[in-house]
Amino acid sequence: MADQYAQTGEDSRPTEIPAIRWEEPPEGPVLVLLDQTRLPAEEVELVCTDASALVEAIRSLAVRGAPLLGIAGAYGVALAAVRGFDVDEAANALAGARPTAVNLAVGVRRAQDAHRTEFAKGGDARQAAEAALAAARTLHREDAEASGRMAERGLALLDELLPGGGHRILTHCNTGALVSGGEGTAFAVALAAHRVGRLRRLWVDETRPLLQGARLTAYEAARSGMAYTLLTDNAAGSLFAAGEVDAVLIGADRIAADGSVANKVGSYPLAVLARYHHVPFIVVAPVTTVDLDTPDGASIEVEQRPGHEVTELTAPQVPVAGAEAGGGVPVAPLGTQAYNPAFDVTPPELVTAIVTEEGVVSPVTAEALAALCEKSRQA
Ligand code: MRU
Repeated sequence: MADQYAQTGEDSRPTEIPAIRWEEPPEGPVLVLLDQTRLPAEEVELVCTDASALVEAIRSLAVRGAPLLGIAGAYGVALAAVRGFDVDEAANALAGARPTAVNLAVGVRRAQDAHRTEFAKGGDARQAAEAALAAARTLHREDAEASGRMAERGLALLDELLPGGGHRILTHCNTGALVSGGEGTAFAVALAAHRVGRLRRLWVDETRPLLQGARLTAYEAARSGMAYTLLTDNAAGSLFAAGEVDAVLIGADRIAADGSVANKVGSYPLAVLARYHHVPFIVVAPVTTVDLDTPDGASIEVEQRPGHEVTELTAPQVPVAGAEAGGGVPVAPLGTQAYNPAFDVTPPELVTAIVTEEGVVSPVTAEALAALCEKSRQA
């Protein structure tokens, strides 16, 4: 059935999609973000001149996805430092802007530590700000490198698990260049398979309620020229039943010490489907997403989002007359209560493998994850 959906991406724009950059115009340093709430309709940039603007951009999902949140958080601390704001206050606000993706707090703390260390060494405010900025730039570069290594390891794993080639991959949410300093996590693996001619089709879950799959992954897939097909989240079951999925590839927002994986809501049902249909369920994430301080899945704080994201179809930034709180088109009676967790948690026993830049963990056990983190710490 996959080949009957034979369209490939036809977007001729360049495949590089810089989601974030630091700029130093004469008026003072700024952080420039590609506003992801406006994609794919418009490529609009958001210019943040202080950490509070960045906090707002993080909450509204203008900037999003675990690795990119880490990079943004680190630059946010640097921005506060360079512009002479209270760095610890900015760091706390940034780290708390969204609770589930551990990379955000990790990125913030990394720049904050560099800032503090420079002061402790006797540096002045300018030197401390430079140290924070250098830490953010390093994190940005490391994430790009990690992305390349995850893609290599992930492709090797796919080839091992699916020796016939012609992979039909199902993915959820958005995990490409829009969430990374490089080409992303799960999407980077699919892209690597595409480049060597081994991706037959990328099945893209639309990812309700905010449509990161439809708006963002389809946008990335179109720009890469790969064969992709969009489906509603609830069409995945029949796709598995028809034997059309060879593997599931997703990213992660936090991986607990026991290997439980928090990712965009809808990932756990895919893991259950994958197990029932004997299809590998593969998580691709940098080591910075593994949080050994969170013991298990139940300890992961899952962000709850506003109900209007479910009760309305949101055309971001386009106010609709008569709309309720979010400015979108109502699809439920006014006043309807909604359950809107941003993420769900997949237990380790449903995860075939976790692919990181440092190595692949399979089977997923607490011991194997701890050993991987230790190897990464020593590298
Ligand atoms: O709410 P979002 O859009 O920030 O959620 C993003 C995801 O769930 C991604 O799958 C996850 O961050 C991994 S990105 C490599």
